Amino acid sequence: MKEKVQELTQKIQDFQIIDAKSLENFRITFIKNEIPELMGLMKSIPNEQKKEFGQLVNGLKNLAQEKFDVSKEKLDNQPMQELPPFDLTLPIIPNATGTLHPLTLIRQRIVDIFAKMGFSVADGAEIEDDWHNFSALNFPPNHPARDMQDTFFVDEDIVLRTHTSSVQVRLMENKKPPLRAIMPGRVFRNEAITARAHCIFHQVEGLYVDENVSLVDLKQTLYHFVKEMFGQDTQVRFRSSYFPFTEVSAEVDISCQMNNPQGCSICGGSKNVCKGTGWVEILGCGMVHPNVLENCGIDSEKYTGFAFGMGIERIAMLKYRVKDLRLFTENDIRFLRQFSETWGN
Ligand code: PHE
Repeated sequence: MKEKVQELTQKIQDFQIIDAKSLENFRITFIKNEIPELMGLMKSIPNEQKKEFGQLVNGLKNLAQEKFDVSKEKLDNQPMQELPPFDLTLPIIPNATGTLHPLTLIRQRIVDIFAKMGFSVADGAEIEDDWHNFSALNFPPNHPARDMQDTFFVDEDIVLRTHTSSVQVRLMENKKPPLRAIMPGRVFRNEAITARAHCIFHQVEGLYVDENVSLVDLKQTLYHFVKEMFGQDTQVRFRSSYFPFTEVSAEVDISCQMNNPQGCSICGGSKNVCKGTGWVEILGCGMVHPNVLENCGIDSEKYTGFAFGMGIERIAMLKYRVKDLRLFTENDIRFLRQFSETWGN
């Protein structure tokens, strides 16, 4: 037993305390564990040796406590380490901020282009009644777009808006011409989610109603938009189409620039966007149907108007060459980080 005490005495004496960490280590090893353990052996010591053993262990205890106290005091009184000189002229370390979502960037860009042409921004509800989403827009009662497959019905007469044209109706009902506004917003369609379609997406629609608004105004406005958005060399094509709320109606295609010696700025030469035709569709448009003007209390003899609508996801896919629109909603930081606020054509 004596050897054990001697051994521990040696260990306590040899232990190097150089900092707070080793001090704590010392306390736990000896004061908390080893000495009380040794004391615990008292039961097994023959009675006549108990006194001597007790004294030895007490001596050990004092030795350890003293070493601890002295070292602690030494460490506490140690002067603080000299810090390197502080340079107040150093530039600050910038906070790492996130980037705007690509759809936000595209929406802002679209809004900017039309704002410069005098369009204001109008907003509306995502839950609409049948009148504002369909009836006022000249949808015949049995039009296929009202079918359960395309529309999310909240109630018999209430839907999640399938397009932002509902905002156009509200605008025309509530304000007198001249009206010139665009309506960015979220829309809903009961479609399977694939690389090219989603049940929730974003649109920007536009409306201009005044005396003598003509198809030429519509074409010129959209020409300007396309050139600003996709670059001055982009070709634009109007293809006749059908929408219940416009007459005449058209869809706008832009050139895919396959023949550009620098390669196509949209698909990078892979032809997977235009399917080799050289044209990709970007929006629908037309002259507001007289029935729609009348439904909204606007005299269709006096006023005419044009309207257009485009999907923000589609423009973003073309602009950023994104092949799968599900990426926009997956919130994968590696995808989102690629979009900085800078804008380049
Ligand atoms: N509302 C149409 C759509 O969602 C787009 C559009 C708007 C077409 C205005 C013509 C005029 O597909």
